[in-house]
Amino acid sequence: MARHTVVTMPGDGIGKVVLPESLRVLNAVGFEADYVHADIGWDCWIEEGNALPDRTVEMLARHRLGLFGAITSKPKAKADAELKPELRGKGLSYFSPIVGMRQKFGLDVCVRPCRSFAGNPLNFIRKKPGGGFEEPSVDAVIFRQNTEGMYAGVEWTNPSAGVRDALASHPKFKPFRDVPGPDLAVSARIVTRSGCFRIAKAAFEHARKHGYRSVTVCEKPNVLRETSGMMEEEAKKVQKLFPEIPLWSVNIDAQMMWLTKNPEEYGVVVATNLFGDIISDAFAGLVGGLGFACSANVGAEVAVFEPTHGSAPKYEKLDPPIVNPIAMILSAAMMLDHVGEGEKAERIRKAIAAVVSEGKVRTYDMLRLPGGPDVFKHGAATTARMTDAILERL
Ligand code: NAI
Ligand code: MG
Repeated sequence: MARHTVVTMPGDGIGKVVLPESLRVLNAVGFEADYVHADIGWDCWIEEGNALPDRTVEMLARHRLGLFGAITSKPKAKADAELKPELRGKGLSYFSPIVGMRQKFGLDVCVRPCRSFAGNPLNFIRKKPGGGFEEPSVDAVIFRQNTEGMYAGVEWTNPSAGVRDALASHPKFKPFRDVPGPDLAVSARIVTRSGCFRIAKAAFEHARKHGYRSVTVCEKPNVLRETSGMMEEEAKKVQKLFPEIPLWSVNIDAQMMWLTKNPEEYGVVVATNLFGDIISDAFAGLVGGLGFACSANVGAEVAVFEPTHGSAPKYEKLDPPIVNPIAMILSAAMMLDHVGEGEKAERIRKAIAAVVSEGKVRTYDMLRLPGGPDVFKHGAATTARMTDAILERL
């Protein structure tokens, strides 16, 4: 196996805490790699006016493999106020570096596995009709189109005359025609046939490779006839290439209801950007939430792996750190899957499963404690202790 170089981007806040923990696990499992640090995030914005510096983009282009912690982003006024004085008034505007990275490298396939670990006190449970509770085992993998749709960024408040004219050419714009510009906001939902096809194909390939029984496309084609319609159409086309795997089509709103009724029924789920974002958070909530939610952003050349959580600034300065490193470690395991080291990835997941089911070492979130410096008094483990426990099980 060729030796890999991994670009490590801890970013801000707890990104700096959890990323090094995942490296300890990668080393322990015998993954042979070199790691190169790259700057990203809020400090880069303040100092350089760019949260995703060119040198980081170049490193990713060269090495093609990235591990990312989390970044902090703040509303426009705050972002402008924190920019260093020399850079102010130069027309710089903050742009999310993770969204930027996805767009720059065409990381159009986002994969978010949501699998419950037996014994996790945060797992979803439901009441049985005859009394008592049951804990369905959830194993869903969400494939979210990552670069188009509602997050393509084509939006306006007070759109220009040209945009208004174009909108007015649609009969359904009639009720909005006389709304004053400053009172009118428009976000365009843009999807392409090739984007839909690629995400659907990635979903079916995953289902085949890992033996999932079905793929569910989650859209709203009865209302969003053009965009959701195209996604569903492409998913149907792809299904023909995978005749042994049925395609289910469920409306996004209905899916949010079914989710807590029978989550064990779902395997691979595929959706456009916003809907995929929503569904993946919803599924993640059934299997432990942010401390467990991992993800991959995969393009034709470059792939970046990250926990779905953010920088959790309120816990950034706690010493020792309290946050759960499992989401980051699971993301690193996804990186191993990606580079053909699936056996090592599986060992990591088994070690995590063992620690969770044993139940001796639990971070504050797993004990449902409010976060803070005194969680240790209530039996919570430190971030490092959780990693140690995983290492002991490897
Ligand atoms: P967040 O995910 O940072 O934190 C929300 C809450 O979830 C935390 O206060 C904490 O209670 C819990 N949490 C998060 N990660 C955890 C972990 N590993 N272990 C245990 N508990 C954990 O989201 P929030 O507070 O909305 O945003 C904070 C900052 O992060 C913002 O600046 C936001 O823009 C940014 N953000 C960045 C993301 C990224 O880097 N991909 C994603 C989401 C938010
Ligand atoms: Mg989200």
